[in-house]
Amino acid sequence: MSQSATAAKSNAKDTVTVTDNASGKAVTLPVMSGTIGPKVIDIRRLYSDTGMFTYDPGFVATGSCESRITYIDGDAGVLLHRGYPIEDLAQHCDFTEVAYLLLKSELPTAAEKEKFVYDITHHTMVHEQLAMFYRGFRRDAHPMAVMCGVVGALSAFYHDSLDISDPHQRMIASYRLIAKMPTIAAWAYKYSIGQPFIYPQNGLRYAENFLHMLFATPCETFNVNPVFAKAMDKILILHADHEQNASTSTVRLAGSSGANPFACIAAGIASLWGPAHGGANEAVLTMLKQIGNKSYIGEFLKRVKDRDDATRLMGFGHRVYKNFDPRASIMRKTCHEVLGELGIKHDPLLELAMELEKIALQDDYFIQRKLYPNVDFYSGIIFQALGIPTTMFTALFAVARTTGWVTQWNEMVEDPNQKIGRPRQLYTGRTRREFVPIVRRG
Ligand code: SDX
Repeated sequence: MSQSATAAKSNAKDTVTVTDNASGKAVTLPVMSGTIGPKVIDIRRLYSDTGMFTYDPGFVATGSCESRITYIDGDAGVLLHRGYPIEDLAQHCDFTEVAYLLLKSELPTAAEKEKFVYDITHHTMVHEQLAMFYRGFRRDAHPMAVMCGVVGALSAFYHDSLDISDPHQRMIASYRLIAKMPTIAAWAYKYSIGQPFIYPQNGLRYAENFLHMLFATPCETFNVNPVFAKAMDKILILHADHEQNASTSTVRLAGSSGANPFACIAAGIASLWGPAHGGANEAVLTMLKQIGNKSYIGEFLKRVKDRDDATRLMGFGHRVYKNFDPRASIMRKTCHEVLGELGIKHDPLLELAMELEKIALQDDYFIQRKLYPNVDFYSGIIFQALGIPTTMFTALFAVARTTGWVTQWNEMVEDPNQKIGRPRQLYTGRTRREFVPIVRRG
C-alpha cells in the first residue's frame, strides 16, 4: 500500500543524546521521520548547544533538505519518482508524462497531458538573438561549455520569468527550461559540426523533436527512426531526476541565495559536466575505446585496483546504490533492444562492456567495495548506436536532468524552512600571527 506524502514528523520520544566525553555535557536532539527511508537527527541546535559543528565531507551522511520528489533505497536498488517505481515509469510512460509527474506530483490525465505537451511544445523556440550567441564560441568548444554559457544567458532574455517569489513566473521559467534545453543542446551540436540550426517542429513529440534538431538538415526531409525516438525517450526518463545528487544540490545551493532559475540551471550543468558525475557516460566510451578489446581487460583492471594509479572503472560505483542501479538494468535491456532493432548483431563496444561487467562483478576489489554498473555504464553505447557523438553524451544527460533540477528548485523555493545554504568547516590553518612588512621578509 503506498503511503501518502506527509510532512516530516518528530515526537518527544524520538530523540538522540550526544555526550561530549571531554566535558561530560549531554545534548538531546530531536529525530525526524519521513514516510520511508532513514530517519534524520535534527542538528539545527547542535552548534548553539555544544559549540561544535558536524563534519561530513561530500555529505555522505547528511540530509540537506526535506523532499517529496524522488526516493532512493541504495541497498534495495529502489528508485521512486513521486512514489512510482522507475521500472513502471520507463515501461508505461513517455518523458513528458514523467516530467509532468515530477513537476506536479501526480501523473497527468489524458487532457492534462495534452495541455502540458502543447505548452512545452510551444516554448521550444529560443529568442532569435540567442542563435548569434553561439557564434562567440570556437567550433571545437565542448557542447557542455556552450550549454553552460547559453543557458546562463537565458536570464538576459526572459526578464518576465525571473521573479522567483511569483509562482506563475517560476512555472513559466520551468516550462521554458524544459522546453528549450533540447533546442539549445541540438544547436550546440549543429554549431560544432558547422551545420545550420534546425528549428523545433511543433508536430513532433519531445524526444523525436530533439533527434530531428540533432540530425535533420534543410536540404531534405528527415524522418526520425521510431526505434531511436523510443530509445531516446526512455533514456530521458532514466536520467530525469535522482534525489540530492551533486548537480541537483548545486542547483539548490545556487537557488538558496535567490539567484534566478536560468543561472541556477547553468550551475547545475557545470556540476554535471564532471567525470565523477554526468561526465561519466562520455568517460565510459573513452575508457572502452582505450581498453580496445577483451584481451586487455585484465591489464586495465590491474591499474584500476592499483592504489597508486588514479584509473577508475568509469560507469561503476555509486554513492547511494550499493547493490545495483535500477536504471543500469533498464539501460542494459534498452541497449540490447536498440542494437537488435538496428540489426546490429555484434557491437564490439557492447560485448567489451558486458565482458568487463562480468569480470568486475566477480572480482573481490569491486565486491568488497560494492561497486556495480551505474546509469552511465551502458548509456554511452546506446547513444553511439543512435549516432550521437561522444562529446554530446553529457549534454543529453543535462537535457533530461533539467526537469529534475527545475522540480527540485521549485521545491526549495517553496520550502518554508528554506534559507541560504552556508556550510561551516573544520579549520586547520594558521592561528593569528603578526604582520611582517615586505622589507623585513626573507
Ligand atoms: C552519476 O549521485 C547520483 O545520484 C549521481 C547520478 C545521478 O543520476 O545524478 O547517479 C549520476 O553521477 C553516476 C556516477 C557516475 N560516475 C562514475 O561512473 C565515475 C566512476 N565512479 C566513481 O568515481 C565513484 O564510484 C562515485 C563518484 C560514483 C562514487 O564515489 P564515492 O561514493 O565517493 O565513493 P568513493 O570514491 O569513496 O569510493 C569508495 C571506494 C574507494 O576505494 P578505497 O579508497 O575504499 O580503497 O571504491 C573505490 C574508491 O577508490 N571506487 C572505485 C570506483 N568507484 C569507487 N574504484 C574503481 N573504479 C570506480 N569506478
